[in-house]
Parts: sequence; C-alpha cells; structure tokens
Amino acid sequence: MDSRAMIELERKPFKERLAFQYSMYLKEVEDGYMTGRQGCGPTDRRMKYKELNGDGFNEVLVFGSNSYLGMSNDPYVKRKVIEAVERYGIGTGGSPAFSGYTKQHRDLELRLAKLAEHEDAVLLPSGYMANLCWVAGLMNRNDVIVYDKNSHASVINAIKMAGVPFYTFDPENLDALPAIFERIQARAKPGTQIFSTVEGVRSTDGLTIDLRRYIEICRQHEVITILDDAHGVGTLGKSGRGTLEHLDLLGQVDLRMSTCSKALGAQGAFISGSKEHIFLLRNFSYPYVFTSGLAQPTIAAISAALDLLEREPERVATLHANVRYMQDLLEREGMKIIRGDSGIIPVFFGEDGVVRKLNKELYARALFANIMEYPMVPPGLERLRLSVMSTHTREEIESAVALIAATAREMGLLA
Ligand SMILES: Cc1ncc(COP(=O)(O)O)c(C=O)c1O
Repeated sequence: MDSRAMIELERKPFKERLAFQYSMYLKEVEDGYMTGRQGCGPTDRRMKYKELNGDGFNEVLVFGSNSYLGMSNDPYVKRKVIEAVERYGIGTGGSPAFSGYTKQHRDLELRLAKLAEHEDAVLLPSGYMANLCWVAGLMNRNDVIVYDKNSHASVINAIKMAGVPFYTFDPENLDALPAIFERIQARAKPGTQIFSTVEGVRSTDGLTIDLRRYIEICRQHEVITILDDAHGVGTLGKSGRGTLEHLDLLGQVDLRMSTCSKALGAQGAFISGSKEHIFLLRNFSYPYVFTSGLAQPTIAAISAALDLLEREPERVATLHANVRYMQDLLEREGMKIIRGDSGIIPVFFGEDGVVRKLNKELYARALFANIMEYPMVPPGLERLRLSVMSTHTREEIESAVALIAATAREMGLLA
C-alpha cells in the first residue's frame, strides 16, 4: 500500500479501517515482512532476532538501535543496576505524588537539571509521556501552540488530545515564523500565551536547525519555547549534553525534554526548566502526577550512564568519528544520504515501497536497520535510517555498507 492510499484510508469509517488494516497485517506476515519480530538478548551491536512465525533466533548486525553509546549493555551500568536492586528493590509502588518519589529520583532530577543548565527537572517514564506532560501541564484551550511540522508523533498526539489550538511551522524556513506569531497575536484574546516546540536532533534525518535564530524569534514575540532533544543527549555536544551544548545555547530554551531511552541506554525522560514551570508540571500535569514513578533499576541505569558520559566523553567523539566514516563510505558507493552531526544517517533509494523491500532483504542477509515511511516522513521521502553506535568497529561499518551497496545493486536501486 502506498502512502497516498494510506492517507485515503485514514478517512474511512472505523469498521472499514479495522478490516482493511488487519488484512494488511496478515498479508505482511505472510510475505515475510518484519511485523512482530522479537529480539533476544541484550541491546547491542549484534543481536538475535526471530520472525513472528520463524523457528529460531538469527544473529544480525545492528544499525538500527538508538543506544548510540552502547550504554544498554555496558558492564559498569549493569553492575550499578544490580547494586541498586539489592539496596532499593524494584518498583516504586505509586505515583510521585504518593509513594513513588525517592531520594534517588530527586538526586537524578537535580543532576539532569544541571546537565541542561536549568533550575529544576522532572522525570517521566518515557519520552512519549514527557511530551504529553508538558502539553497537558502548561497549556489550555485559551493558549496556542506553534509546532515544528516534523514533530514526533507524541507531540502531535498530545496537542490533539489536549485540544490546544495549533499551527505548524517549517523549521527550514524560519523567515516565515515571525509572521505566524504576529497573525496569532493579532487575533488572540487577552492573556493568550503562545508556546512553540521544535526538535533538537531531528529523528528522521539527524539534522539540527538554526536554533539560535529560532530562540531569538520566539523571545522577540514572548513565545515560550520547548525543545524535544530526544536524540541529542549523548550524541551532540563536547560532553554529550545535547544539541544545545553543540550550539553553545545551554539553558537558552524555556523547557527541554530529553529521553533516557536512546544514547543513555535506559528508559524514561526528563523535562527541565525554571522552578516555576517545573513546579506546574510536578503538581498539576496528569501524565506526571498520575503515573508510577520510575523503577529503581531505571534510575540506577540512567545515573550510571551519566557517570560514564562524564568520565568518558570520548565515547561521543568516537560516535562522531564512526558516523563520518560510515557517511564517507556510503557516499563513495554512490548512495544518496544526508550528512548530519548526530548518530542518524538517512539513505534514499527512491519511490514508495522500494526501501521496505530493500530492508527486508538486508534483514535476510543479517543486517538490522530501520526504515522511515509515511506518516513519519512525507510521501515520496521514504528512507533507510541507519543508527550508528560508538561501539561499532570499523570492520562492522565496512561490512554493513558493502552489504547495503551489493543488495541495492542487485535490486537495481543503485548504479
Ligand atoms: C523526537 C522524539 N521525541 C520523543 C520520542 C519518544 O521517546 P521514548 O521512546 O523515550 O518514549 C522519540 C522516540 O523515538 C523521538 O524520536
């Protein structure tokens, strides 16, 4: 099914959508696409995976994990988690407003606030929840949000769920942003607050935008800024503090969301900002107040990952060297890529459906990568999305590029 047909499908009645989507799923399973695949063993550069109806687990080389710094299977992190379990147990038994908030949560929040150069921070069970948290906690229907048209599904979903009036903007065309704010201000009721959000490292192509200019425009129009830096922490900045460190802008947005599920190799997320903004989220935002506090092993894993980031900042430099090496090799093979500074490399092969077939073939030849299709990217801009890790060896990068090039050539997708 191509992406235009998918847009049509979204408009159909529920029963029709359900029947069609379920039959599509069954067909994908029958055709051997990777619907319902299961991993086995630790998240790392090599992993075992099994198809939904497959017999056994096969080892694949992984270029599709967000664990950019190899923290999810790091011996130091694992030791600290085991120690924490022995000392503090596992679940927190309640939401942070009741029993689910401990000294370990507070210490980690303060550490993350310091990393972001903000006054305070709150921890959430995922990046998705964190994006729900700031939307629900800061805004009501009298406010307006202007969001990056590339925003993650969680941001878009949160805005729709909260019923906040919204506009989108193209971060590649910041010249148009002042006029958007001015039009809203001209029509707004007294007291309307405008908020705006943008991605730090864009998850679909690994690029960063001109954040300095974005922040300046927002300040000039008294707009409150929220940065989604899910993929930036650990992958950008000299010490891995994210996109804002990379651009020398730490502490310059009003609020920042970063996940602990990607380069930090664990799970959860934090939102940092001023004491007042964080007070509002901690006390009034339902996605924070009414869900259980992060479990102790997760708190320990995030804290240990931060220890490593502080002690071994060379992990970030090694990631960048690996990314550049892979970008050079992909280009040398004639592939069309976008060159960014983070851990993500998008590779383009053409029309709808082609990347899907290529990725299926790569998987059959023991290379695990991800693809981005509509609705994650606009129709016609489907891509293979390679995620590089600091722990990948040069040989692994060489063999992945050679395999992609050979497979794409056999399929007539590369000259
Ligand atoms: C830009 C962006 N924001 C938020 C999230 C959600 O993060 P999590 O996986 O921790 O829920 C993601 C996840 O891929 C993301 O790419």
